[in-house]
Amino acid sequence: MDFLSNEKLVIVGAAGMIGSNMAQTAAMMHLTPNICLYDTYAPGLEGVAEEMLHCGFEGLNLTYTSDIKEAFKDAAYVVSSGGAARKAGMTREDLLRGNAEIAEQLGKDIKAYCPNVKHVVVVFNPADITGLVTLIYSGLKPSQVSTLAALDSTRLRSELAKYFHIPADKIVNSRTYGGHGEQMAVYASTTIVDGQPLSEIIGTKALPEQEWEQMKQRVIQGGKNIIDLRGRSSFQSPAYLSIEMVAAAMGGKKFNWPVGTYVNNDDYKHIMMAMETTVDKNGVTVHKVDGTPEEKKELDQSYHHLCKLRDEVISLGIIPPIDEWKSINPNL
Ligand code: 2OP
Repeated sequence: MDFLSNEKLVIVGAAGMIGSNMAQTAAMMHLTPNICLYDTYAPGLEGVAEEMLHCGFEGLNLTYTSDIKEAFKDAAYVVSSGGAARKAGMTREDLLRGNAEIAEQLGKDIKAYCPNVKHVVVVFNPADITGLVTLIYSGLKPSQVSTLAALDSTRLRSELAKYFHIPADKIVNSRTYGGHGEQMAVYASTTIVDGQPLSEIIGTKALPEQEWEQMKQRVIQGGKNIIDLRGRSSFQSPAYLSIEMVAAAMGGKKFNWPVGTYVNNDDYKHIMMAMETTVDKNGVTVHKVDGTPEEKKELDQSYHHLCKLRDEVISLGIIPPIDEWKSINPNL
């Protein structure tokens, strides 16, 4: 059996719906034989491990533990969905305090037990903030920590495909940037619909402005819609996309959907949010996107929304003020 890597992949939160689906996906995609499942909820963890073993995967060396030190020993890749999930009536931002504290511990555990980890993917919400907190405390480089954001771009692709009754593959480069939350910037200018720029279609009979605005709302509320339909937060799509991100970091197919990444440039300071990125074995690389002035304005709004959440986490004392970050993580 050929695997992409032989290195240890740790799945944090493996007893949960996203975590168990990540384990299943990683095994099915042959990422590595060495998958370690971690969760504080031991019976659920054992249940997931048992089921994985009952699959009879070839060549799999599955381990599981509720001891974080043991889990992180020699870890090369970590993917974490180990936070509380969003429930009906909640926004992702409602999870801020509890999950930011979990992210603080995750970062500290990485620094203590696997400082040589190559890449960490953070999935639990609000992912831009939990990813930032994890990055600060882990001591890792910005290129080594990414968050799941692609789900909003894949939702845009899906909405466009449904609207135009064409296969999703005919929608190219659909993109959202900024936060994976109540305020994200849904771009039109990057997207090609069956060979034609989306920007040229919006405002015509084929896609009136008002329909486009409604579509953007469906994209932004895509996670809520899954909760409404299924009675629980999404798990198949975040699990699949985050494992694709890990596969790319392992040297597999490059991940070309936007991921959440640390941004500190002329426009946006000390924040984690979705940008145009590539993930490969060197981690995250950020690319420039121009966008229209309106799109830039939406991205600015998303950034300011994230700054407020970040500053709330600072005022809660979970992370220190920005000028002290460097003393915890010299890479920032
Ligand atoms: C979603 O958007 C769970 O954040 C995830 O469905």
